[in-house]
Amino acid sequence: MITVRVPASSANLGPGFDCMGLALTIYNYFDVKEYDGLFIEGVDDAYKGEDNLFYKAFQKGIAYRLLKSGKQATAPYGIHIRIRIGVPMSRGLGSSANCIIGGLAAANELYPSIPYHMTEAELFYLGNEMEGHPDNIAPALFGGFTSSMILPNNQPVKMITPVSPKWYFAALVPDVEVPTKEARKALPDTLHRTEAALNVSHALFIQHGIKTADPAILKAAGVDYIHEPYRKKLIPDYETVKELAAKAGCEAFFISGSGSTCLALSLDPQFATRLQSTLVLANLTANWEVYSCEPDISGVTILR
Ligand code: HSE
Repeated sequence: MITVRVPASSANLGPGFDCMGLALTIYNYFDVKEYDGLFIEGVDDAYKGEDNLFYKAFQKGIAYRLLKSGKQATAPYGIHIRIRIGVPMSRGLGSSANCIIGGLAAANELYPSIPYHMTEAELFYLGNEMEGHPDNIAPALFGGFTSSMILPNNQPVKMITPVSPKWYFAALVPDVEVPTKEARKALPDTLHRTEAALNVSHALFIQHGIKTADPAILKAAGVDYIHEPYRKKLIPDYETVKELAAKAGCEAFFISGSGSTCLALSLDPQFATRLQSTLVLANLTANWEVYSCEPDISGVTILR
């Protein structure tokens, strides 16, 4: 049995819609072994079938290895999966990209008799193809603060920006699910040119502010015009929690991916603890849990 560890990720970081993402030290663990058939444990029955995303990615990875090896599938390539969930699901912490990268990584490790093994670029390609955008896939695969673009041949490529160790991160997770599909439907299809230009400049300066731990830059660059104005209405308590976070020392506050989680950055190491106490006492609609975390710099990791 091997264990595949995959980090959570927070996509967008405000203006970096569908292209920027940060891997966080919150993990799902998948204990996997070769098996005659499919057996999944550790999740609700609804996730134990062949449409389980980890399993679908696993099968996609095996099919790709067979294709590149010039081999026909002579036997079913089954798997036994024990899932130990640490990443809240459907909350904007990249749980689908997490399962996809986990399944592809497992497909690359099990069944060593298939000669071909996927490269990182191929894992990135297949993951992006399944997810539809690379912003969570890149940090789940590579770790770190990633910016991605898609080449004309559909191959995604990434750039990693170092994160200043002066930043402290907290994922603020309400007990409310916001399905990504719904959160994407809430967005308008067109954007005014002025706002598009602002978003481009803000995304560039987010990278600078994260690298240099400059709160003034991050504050100015944190304004997004593509998704946050439309999505904040889907998150209960958004304005109140943002205000309370600012009072507790938050320097930047983003909707994590498509929500409902919000990502808060501070220069104060006590920030997350203080904010958790504040949120417990506040009169809020949802129950909010604060996950104090750091950037994960490893990405998907095989533990033996
Ligand atoms: N960039 C994506 C979005 C992340 O904001 O919809 C969620 O998959």
